[in-house]
Amino acid sequence: MSQRERSEAKSGAKNRRRTGVWILVAIAVSMLFLLLFPASEAPVVIPKIVEPADSSVERWYTAEQVIQGRELFAQHCAGCHGNNAAATPDWRKTDASGNYPPPPLNGSAHAWHHPLSVLRETIRRGGVPLGGVMPGFADKLSAQQIDAVIAWFQSLWPDELYQAWYRMEKESQ
Ligand code: HEC
Repeated sequence: MSQRERSEAKSGAKNRRRTGVWILVAIAVSMLFLLLFPASEAPVVIPKIVEPADSSVERWYTAEQVIQGRELFAQHCAGCHGNNAAATPDWRKTDASGNYPPPPLNGSAHAWHHPLSVLRETIRRGGVPLGGVMPGFADKLSAQQIDAVIAWFQSLWPDELYQAWYRMEKESQ
């Protein structure tokens, strides 16, 4: 080994050691940070993305939520929106008193244009504040139950539609 090679090998080892020290310093500083500033605000709970058995596209909800939501929907929503969330196909037409009918929520109407936050609010508060007639469910369903209901009707959406919705959902955050 020439003298130059030897000194290059030495400085290489020195650089590696220096990098190692910096990594340790970075870890120590981040641990100190976590100790000094524990997450004080409740984190925003974005449900886990779980792949349901019947779909090739990842969805934000679990199969359990879909099952729970199906029951809740039958109980609270199907009377107006139809058993398979398919009423009323002619949802763009107002009735004699100028009200819109309950639109389909199965992906064939407009619901997929709304981010999750808006869907949650619509179900919580109903349509009355916006001049509609749907009752609010804030006093009947918990936030978790509302999420389950949304999971159920979204499980009826074809993958392509769901993906378009999901892209919009990400952009809205
Ligand atoms: C009494 C009838 C009725 C019931 C019960 C009802 N809805 Fe509605 N829903 C409507 C009507 C009518 C509209 C259209 C807007 C309006 O008039 O408020 C609507 C609109 C919606 C929308 C907005 C759709 C869009 O395309 O913008 C969503 C989401 C929705 N309903 C979900 C639900 C869910 C979930 C339940 C059950 C927890 C439910 N609704 C129960 C009548 C009802």
